[in-house]
Amino acid sequence: MKVLIVYDSQTGNTGLMAEAVAQGVRDSDIEVVLKTVDEASIDELPQVQGVIFGSPVYYGLPTGKIKAWIDETVKYHGKLTHLVGGAFCSAGGTHTGSETTILALLQACLVHGMIVQGSPHGSHYGVASVGSPDEKEVENCKKLGARVAELIKKLVP
Ligand SMILES: Cc1cc2nc3c(=O)[nH]c(=O)nc-3n(C[C@H](O)[C@H](O)[C@H](O)COP(=O)(O)O)c2cc1C
Repeated sequence: MKVLIVYDSQTGNTGLMAEAVAQGVRDSDIEVVLKTVDEASIDELPQVQGVIFGSPVYYGLPTGKIKAWIDETVKYHGKLTHLVGGAFCSAGGTHTGSETTILALLQACLVHGMIVQGSPHGSHYGVASVGSPDEKEVENCKKLGARVAELIKKLVP
């Protein structure tokens, strides 16, 4: 069982979050592939059971690079309904587009028919950090990775 984390990060903040999310997946004994949007190939999707997207907030939305990557996934449209999806982002401020960015990423997962689990304990949709993640957001990132991993374990016999 394997999770792919695809993230964009121009100044490193989302990258730090991605590493913490990856740690959370690993701590739940699931393999993780951590790749920037430039490195990741959509052809890895058929080999994984989960995909987690990370993006800086750009004008209240994921970056163009992440959107372009997602648009390429049309190649596997209808074939990814068994995947667990998740999302996280880094913004420049609070209430400046984090949730719209996370929800945009989750919308794409839902269009693919993926399975997306929220959280009743804060960070309901996914994790958002202001700038570089502090200790609390690093923990939340680990929890996001663990949540995706634990759901995969429940779904995959
Ligand atoms: C083109 C551009 C647009 C941005 N738009 C927003 C925005 O709408 N809201 C916000 O909070 N931050 C915005 N930011 C700030 C980034 O989201 C923020 O600096 C983030 O931490 C960068 O993440 P990174 O270090 O992973 O690249 C923008 C930055 C750039 C370069």
